[in-house]
Amino acid sequence: MAKDVAFNFSGQESIKNEKLIYPAATRNQEPILQVLKRFLICDVDSIEDEESPLFLEIASGSGQHVAHFAPHFPGVKFQPSEVDDSLLGSITYYAENCKTKNILLPKQIDICKKLSSYGFEENSVDYMYSANMIHISPYACTIGLFENAGSFLKPDALMITYGPYSKDGVITPESNVQFDASLKARNPAWGLRDITDLVKLAEQNNLTLMDTIEMPANNKTLIWKKN
Ligand SMILES: C[S@@+](CC[C@H](N)C(=O)[O-])C[C@H]1O[C@@H](n2cnc3c(N)ncnc32)[C@H](O)[C@@H]1O
Repeated sequence: MAKDVAFNFSGQESIKNEKLIYPAATRNQEPILQVLKRFLICDVDSIEDEESPLFLEIASGSGQHVAHFAPHFPGVKFQPSEVDDSLLGSITYYAENCKTKNILLPKQIDICKKLSSYGFEENSVDYMYSANMIHISPYACTIGLFENAGSFLKPDALMITYGPYSKDGVITPESNVQFDASLKARNPAWGLRDITDLVKLAEQNNLTLMDTIEMPANNKTLIWKKN
């Protein structure tokens, strides 16, 4: 039988309804989960549709992250999304095989567009989350992420971003300098973003940097709060 095959960002084959495994996601999912446990609040044991907090992931990639997180927050509704439709099969596989049944089927979302074009209402999302997209996409995607967070998160709700960043124009350590150069060689519009610039972008969108958490492999998790 012919396989429905496409090639995604990592150059890996994405086979419809078969899961992809990104080695980096396998390594970082547990440290990120430990951070989420500090910031996600949910005191119910299962989802009750309208009432359940909504966790919207932008740029889900393989779908591994929500699959790892969701069983630890059975009262939170996880909504994965991706712009690349060749990844939706893998994300669907993880969603359908989640034992706690709190992962919705993925939506195809381009974060450069307003989330209202995908059916979201302003001030309706409890958590937004995006890992490793900010530096591996044009800056317009980062602008879209912050604009959408500013409009579609509920007041006081959080956006969580994970990845490597520079600070005040300086990239550390040398391995991240090389990583930044390799990204730019692949696509001149990609590259590490500067936390100072992101703080300004956040302020323009009614968001404040609430916490910066150092993560393994010279990454950071940034916690943004809507004012
Ligand atoms: C390096 S992957 C990260 C995947 C996953 N979050 C992870 O950490 O394993 C970057 C992802 O950003 C997605 N992406 C790029 N541009 C996007 C856009 N405009 N809207 C939403 N996702 C986008 C790509 O399709 C890709 O899957």
